[in-house]
Amino acid sequence: MARRIPLISVDDLAEGCCMEVAAEGRIFAVCRVNGQFHVFDGICPHAGGPLGKGTLQGCIVTCPWHGWQFDVTTGRHQLSDTICQTVYEAAVEDGRVVITIDQ
Ligand code: FES
Repeated sequence: MARRIPLISVDDLAEGCCMEVAAEGRIFAVCRVNGQFHVFDGICPHAGGPLGKGTLQGCIVTCPWHGWQFDVTTGRHQLSDTICQTVYEAAVEDGRVVITIDQ
């Protein structure tokens, strides 16, 4: 069953930035690229680093712990086709970034 979860206000995140958001017992990374919001699993699969606290260049976020890089639009690791973060459908509703999760 799909559920809608509001994460942040649009004004909470500037263009070209990312942030970590805790909701529903999970950690999400939220990035704003070219006016679009992208939301994905915020826990780095390498060693648990906080991807939402990483640095963002274009659509690539770099984990602050050891430098793994992911495309925020697809969740794909930049060096390995077998590593991919879960990406959540994100929309803006009434000035808030809302995701849909299956649960
Ligand atoms: S925890 Fe992210 S690169 Fe190591």
